[in-house]
Amino acid sequence: MPALPVRPELAGVEPYGAPQLDVPVLLNVNENPFAPSAAVVEEIARRVAEAAHGLNRYPDREFLALRAELAGYLALESGVELTPEQVWAANGSNEVMLHLLQAFGGPGRTALSFAPTYSMYPEYARDTQTRWVAVERASDFSIDPAVARAAIAEHAPSVVLLASPNNPTGTALGLDVVRTVLDAAAEVAGGCVVVVDEAYAEFRRAGTPSALTLLAEHPHLAVTRTMSKAFGMAGARVGYLAAARELVDVLRVVRLPYHLSAVTQAVARAALAHADELMAQVGALRAERDELVAWLRARGLQVADSDANFVMFGVFDNRRTLWQGLLDRGVLIREVGPPGWLRVSVGTPSETAAFKDALVEVAGL
Ligand SMILES: Cc1ncc(COP(=O)(O)O)c(C=O)c1O
Repeated sequence: MPALPVRPELAGVEPYGAPQLDVPVLLNVNENPFAPSAAVVEEIARRVAEAAHGLNRYPDREFLALRAELAGYLALESGVELTPEQVWAANGSNEVMLHLLQAFGGPGRTALSFAPTYSMYPEYARDTQTRWVAVERASDFSIDPAVARAAIAEHAPSVVLLASPNNPTGTALGLDVVRTVLDAAAEVAGGCVVVVDEAYAEFRRAGTPSALTLLAEHPHLAVTRTMSKAFGMAGARVGYLAAARELVDVLRVVRLPYHLSAVTQAVARAALAHADELMAQVGALRAERDELVAWLRARGLQVADSDANFVMFGVFDNRRTLWQGLLDRGVLIREVGPPGWLRVSVGTPSETAAFKDALVEVAGL
């Protein structure tokens, strides 16, 4: 067979993704453990059936009805009023962020973030041939504003990615840090877009603000959100973003035509019509998260502060053995984060109980 002309940076690279194993307790990819109710399932089925009648046609390319409903949801959730044209959506916030890198990254340009952080960021950079720079976070996983300012001045990125709450640490950023980054980005010759990835925003603790409140004053800010986590719609693949209309209009240039299928739009709109009900579980998950953090700390473990629906804990001499021990007991968590740390998603109360029992046994707590 003749050689394939694989781009050198892709040669021998394994596709990204956590192991998808068939075990009883799945706490490894920060999903919402609660399946949609019968009422939500019924509404989705009804709207998909409606959409099915028109599947011979391409879908609404601008999907302004969905964008208006997402804006309505954000107004309720964060008190920030946006026009439909300020909202963008795609197949997961992963695709939204790829659009951002396609539009604002590219050869000769730099994307900068603060590690440890979401492991897909360097992949967006690689796939758009954008140089990738990861600056270390402080030992408590916060970002020192002075370090951020200096790094942006040194590397002159065209995109800065800030996950808040961050994955895998669970830690959120104060708006003072985000403001410092926005100010430093405004000084970059040629411009710099700051992306605040708020995939887990709905799980933030009281008093933790959303960067949506900074949008009105910062045309170079984009805040990404997703329906995969709090909405419990990971399987539907719907992520979205809020930004100035001018920024969104650039994303419309790089998207593939009709990238959001009529079926996806119907599912998203059905879920949004039931936002109240889908969100009802978020409070319970938050309370369970706080209880899990306290439980782990009471057993002498280190636990990063969490504003998300997962908890990063450690520190273990051989985390692989621990991860395997849990798996042997039917509990799948994630071996991710700095050396010695592990990450567990908040599950249903019985899943969390199974995790605790297995951990006590394996770690001898
Ligand atoms: C920080 C962060 N951002 C974005 C995503 C992507 O989510 P989705 O593409 O399902 O919207 C994830 C998924 O785990 C995440 O952890």
